[in-house]
Amino acid sequence: TAGLGTQRIGQQVFAYDEVISTQPLAHDAATKGAPEGTLVLAELQTGGKGRLGRPWHSPKGSGIWMSLIVRPVIPLPKTPQMTLLTAVCVAQSIREETGLPVKIKWPNDIFIGDKKVCGILTELHAESDRVHYLVIGIGINVNSVSADFPADLAQIATSLRIESGQPVNRIRLIQRFCRIFESWYDHFLQDGFQQIKENWEAHSYTIGRDVSVQTISQKLEGRAIGLDEAGVLLVRDESGHVHKVYSADVNYRAK
Ligand code: BTN
Repeated sequence: TAGLGTQRIGQQVFAYDEVISTQPLAHDAATKGAPEGTLVLAELQTGGKGRLGRPWHSPKGSGIWMSLIVRPVIPLPKTPQMTLLTAVCVAQSIREETGLPVKIKWPNDIFIGDKKVCGILTELHAESDRVHYLVIGIGINVNSVSADFPADLAQIATSLRIESGQPVNRIRLIQRFCRIFESWYDHFLQDGFQQIKENWEAHSYTIGRDVSVQTISQKLEGRAIGLDEAGVLLVRDESGHVHKVYSADVNYRAK
C-alpha cells in the first residue's frame, strides 16, 4: 500500500489465496474494529455471493474479488447511495485504466456492451437506525477468457481482457479504484449525492431504455428516465405517470 496516495481506502489489506467469500471475512474484520477503508481480497472464492441470493462465479486469479469496509456517518436511508457511488467509482477506474466504454446498469452492475463485467453487493450493519459499517463487495471479471465462463454465463458475462484484447493489471486497477473511491467518498460526505447522481446518469446503461420492472407487488412497464435526488430509479409508464423503483429486477424490453 506504500505510494497508494490515499489516507484511508486500501491502507489496510487482507489478502487471501482461497476463501468461501470475502464478505463474511470483511464482516468479521469490521466487527473486530478494522478501520474504514480496509480491503479484503481473495484470489479464489469457492462460495462467492451475488445479489438476491445468487452465486457469484469467482475462479482463481482471473478476477478482482474484494470487500471494502466503510463507516459513513449518514442516515440509514442514504446507504443505497453508497452503492451507486461505488458503481460510479468502479466504472471510472475501468474507463481510466483500460479505455473501455463501461456503462452502469441500475442499480450497480457494470456493463460493456450488453454483457456484465462487474457486480456490486452492499451489506449493511446497522443498529437502531445507526449505520455501524457497510461491507461493499466488488467482483470484476478482469482476465478471464471466454472458456473460463460456464455456458450459462458466457452469453451474459464478459471480462476486461475479452473486451480489450489484452491482459489487465489487477493491482493497478485496485490502486486506481482506491484513489477514485476515496475522492468521491469524501465528496459525498461533504457535498452530498447530487454530483454522483449526475455522473451515474451520464454513464448509465439504463436511462432512456424501455424497461419492465418486477417488484414484489407489481409489474411495471415504461421508460427509465433518471434517478431522483435520493438515488431511486424513476420509470415513466405509457400514461405519463412516473413511478419510483426502489429495489427490483429490471429487465430491458426490445425496442
Ligand atoms: C452481483 O452482481 O450479484 C454482485 C456480485 C458481488 C460479487 C463480489 S466478489 C467479492 C465479494 N464477495 C462475495 O462473495 N461477493 C462479492
